Amino acid sequence: MKRVRSLPIIILTILSSFFSLAAYADESGPIVIRFSHVSNDGSPKGKGALLLQKLVKERLGDKVVIEVHGNSELFNDTDGLEALRRNEIQLMAPSLSKFRAYTDELQIFDLPFLFDDLAAVDKFQSRPKGRQLLLSMVKQGIVGLAYWHNGMKQLSANKPLTTPEEAAGLNFRIQNSDVLKAQFAAVKANSVVLPYSAMSKALADGQVQGAENPWANFDEQNLQSVQPYLTETNHGVLDYMLVTNSEFWYDIPFEIRSQLEGIIAEVTYQVNQTAAEETLRHRENIANSGKTEIISLSDEQRAAWRQSMQPVWQEFSDQIGKRLIRSAQAAN
Ligand code: LMR
Repeated sequence: MKRVRSLPIIILTILSSFFSLAAYADESGPIVIRFSHVSNDGSPKGKGALLLQKLVKERLGDKVVIEVHGNSELFNDTDGLEALRRNEIQLMAPSLSKFRAYTDELQIFDLPFLFDDLAAVDKFQSRPKGRQLLLSMVKQGIVGLAYWHNGMKQLSANKPLTTPEEAAGLNFRIQNSDVLKAQFAAVKANSVVLPYSAMSKALADGQVQGAENPWANFDEQNLQSVQPYLTETNHGVLDYMLVTNSEFWYDIPFEIRSQLEGIIAEVTYQVNQTAAEETLRHRENIANSGKTEIISLSDEQRAAWRQSMQPVWQEFSDQIGKRLIRSAQAAN
């Protein structure tokens, strides 16, 4: 009896919530999504952000507006993630090293020499374990929507580095990551945590003498003018997670959210498809600049770097999880 009487109420509740959600987009104007990031427009992330803005304008223009704020104009990554949790901004794509405060597992992407190349990274990210990591920060109010590639990292310095011993005593700029700190400690080098926007100046001033970056970032930050040597180590990966505020995201009416997710999938495909050719283009720019000498390593020389940095895996395997590490290795 009770059940029968409450049925219309349930229907009314569903209908009214449907209409109030619909009103979300129509009566109160478009949903504004502020996308804050630290890169410039020519970088893989900058291009992805602009493409997302363009496609959303074309297809959902009256319902959703994406504002893009690049170049750390609003926040650096650390402050930005807290702003995202407060819903002051709604989209970011920090590098995978920037989530240390929210999860242990994502540290996996910082382990040196874990992935042979970007294809292996891609494979791992597409498999169930990689997909699960997108949801590893939901309790902290952060939900991952996609992985965006940048590329494999190279080492640069104010002197040529061929052997790990040559790095000893140098200060390297790092992202805020315990794994990256341990990686440089393993070759007896020091590390200084600095936001991306401060890297170039710190290299020019001599506060740090070296850095690790994918080709695109090195070129986009014009590090050719401050780093005369770059060693092609491919020792790690710098990729991104496109993230949003979970409460904000699941409040978006289902139909609009689904369309947004479709557009994000398209942009992700585009960013990731072009990553390899972007990397080549930036590598060529650096080679043609005549300012930075690119040092290639023989297999034996690269193996020596790998061997000196490998103990870092052991140090972090309990925090990250041995099974997760094994499944990443299986992608090689
Ligand atoms: C960095 O701090 O080096 C990276 O996070 C920069 C980037 O590409 O976002």
